[in-house]
Amino acid sequence: MKNVKKIAIMGHGVVGSGVAEIFLGNHQNIENKTQVSSEIKYILDLRDFPGLSYSDKFIKDFNLIANDDEISVVVETMGGLNPAYTFVKTCLEKGKSVVTSNKELVAEKGAELLSIARSKNVKFLFEASVGGGIPIIRPLSQCLAANNILEINGILNGTTNYILTCMIRDGVSFEDALAQAQKLGYAEKDPSADVLGLDACRKICILASIAFSKHVYPKYAHAEGITKITLKDVEYAKAWGGAIKLVASAKLLENGKVALETSPAFVSSENPLSSVNDVFNAAFIKGDAVGDVMLYGRGAGKEPTASAVLSDVIEALNSTDSGLALNWSDCDYDITEPYENLKNRMYLRVSGSDLCGLDKVFSEREEVGAVCGECAFITPAISYSELAAKTEQLAALGISVDAAIRVLDI
Ligand code: HSE
Repeated sequence: MKNVKKIAIMGHGVVGSGVAEIFLGNHQNIENKTQVSSEIKYILDLRDFPGLSYSDKFIKDFNLIANDDEISVVVETMGGLNPAYTFVKTCLEKGKSVVTSNKELVAEKGAELLSIARSKNVKFLFEASVGGGIPIIRPLSQCLAANNILEINGILNGTTNYILTCMIRDGVSFEDALAQAQKLGYAEKDPSADVLGLDACRKICILASIAFSKHVYPKYAHAEGITKITLKDVEYAKAWGGAIKLVASAKLLENGKVALETSPAFVSSENPLSSVNDVFNAAFIKGDAVGDVMLYGRGAGKEPTASAVLSDVIEALNSTDSGLALNWSDCDYDITEPYENLKNRMYLRVSGSDLCGLDKVFSEREEVGAVCGECAFITPAISYSELAAKTEQLAALGISVDAAIRVLDI
């Protein structure tokens, strides 16, 4: 009898439905690649989906998947930590490979789940968790494996990049751009994770964990979103010769710690990240042997993300052992440099009735623009603790700092 490998999908939302549709639509191609027969046996979702060609596959009870020895590969596209964590852990413990697009799960529980997968000689794969359709987990963990990774800077959230692009290029309001991103299936269920920078922060933590072989927990990483970006700062960024982007950065410091920061940044138009627009994401990786590598593609959306999920499904179907495994160890101490110590050149927009005192606090500065009672300029590299002290000095001189955005220097 022909051996057919059985797959279960948990979650039939934007990504899960894309996985089912592309799996069924491109099935012959997938079988040619894997050289094994495979089929979807179950789709777990609490909702009903009548009228689909695969409506008969829906179940509501997770135990049917967990207790079915025929299921060898489980796709988790539910999102969120619970119950995804319990379900994924159970599947791995039962010897099933798991493929997930869930960045929160990987960023919080990756080390533990990888360790369970190793002990059971199955796969825990998450290509879709960072950068949507861009191949990035496999290139970083395999193709660049010989390098010491020195630095990663990425635009890793499609929703915020889409919103910023609409605001900058088309003058669309923040609210309208967000509503459109939600309609297109880019945003999280709770879009505050996108706009507050948490989603991009989770993704840079995953990349940093691969790059530095230790689990980097999001709770130790500074995250700031795009909610404070004003059109005024967008215009000053243009006058300076660049654009404002939400950039997630991880850099290995000389003291062995990792500088981790997700925040808006002034990106010079000479830097290719400045022209990454709409839903596109990009990661700029610096390795000690390879030099600079840039990976670019659609960072969110149904089909691109499903494409990445299915690349993992194909690997899981193909594999007979744990291969060149994704691997990092758990880390019970904080390997990130304290936020106050991180140093950047800073864009500042200040205001006051008398700006003469500026020279006392920032004698060296590159002016970007000035109007009556307002000045925008770039400081030399300073730490956030120095910036806080200087902000207080300025306040004492009657000058308020109305915007502070780092400059991305790479
Ligand atoms: N909400 C995420 C984004 C989806 O906009 O990038 C892809 O991870």
